[in-house]
Amino acid sequence: MIIARNIHKSYGNLEVLKGVDIHIKTGEVVSIVGESGAGKSTLLQILGTLDSPTNSKNYDTEITLAGESFINMNDKQLSKFRNQNIGFVFQFHQLLPEFTALENVLLPTKIAGANDKDALEKAYALFEDLRIEQRLHHKPNQLSGGEAQRVAVARALINSPKTIFADEPTGNLDSKNADDLHRLFFDLRDKYNQTFVIVTHNPNLAEITDRKLVMKDGMIIE
Ligand SMILES: Nc1ncnc2c1ncn2[C@@H]1O[C@H](COP(=O)(O)OP(=O)(O)OP(=O)(O)O)[C@@H](O)[C@H]1O
Ligand SMILES: [Mg+2]
Repeated sequence: MIIARNIHKSYGNLEVLKGVDIHIKTGEVVSIVGESGAGKSTLLQILGTLDSPTNSKNYDTEITLAGESFINMNDKQLSKFRNQNIGFVFQFHQLLPEFTALENVLLPTKIAGANDKDALEKAYALFEDLRIEQRLHHKPNQLSGGEAQRVAVARALINSPKTIFADEPTGNLDSKNADDLHRLFFDLRDKYNQTFVIVTHNPNLAEITDRKLVMKDGMIIE
């Protein structure tokens, strides 16, 4: 469950988020749509603990995820909280270039101190689900855009986070792989009750989610 109230974000004089309220139930798959520059990525980064709201004290901003309010956590607490609770699929894949696909995917399990054998098993299963099992030992620059994106999805899912934030996860994928990834999201929700918040320009995906939120000029308008 995610409950957020009064999220504001400004860059200098530019007010990018103008008091966003959002309430997402556990196990919901929610899409966020809206034109370029509306503030979708900014909102996702803040909900995902990767960025902070502006002036949260004055605005009485509150963000609670998995029952914990994280807005006043320090960097160390936040990293731990993120590693345990949140998976992130970015608009651009952000894989580490010097590591192989498999190593990139295993990284969050190392940080979590997970058992190596379990982690490897989970990773192989994800690579198969995402049909990239032939690409385990490729470096990111040896992957196609769509393959790199799927590796990034595997990395987001490896620790089985309760909440997954995805920023245009299918932007780089052909329609078959995009459909498969959408199906995977819904399967995971059905199996593990994971929560998905997905920013997308893909109308097919937006229509099949449980709820579609529309952003415009820094506000959720419907
Ligand atoms: N670091 C920054 N400094 C200044 N302005 C920024 C910064 N990051 C984002 N912005 C501005 O904030 C606004 C919202 O950006 P954001 O990335 O959230 O849009 P978006 O809805 O995700 O758009 P898109 O669909 O193109 O990805 C944009 O006008 C952008 O130029
Ligand atoms: Mg964006």
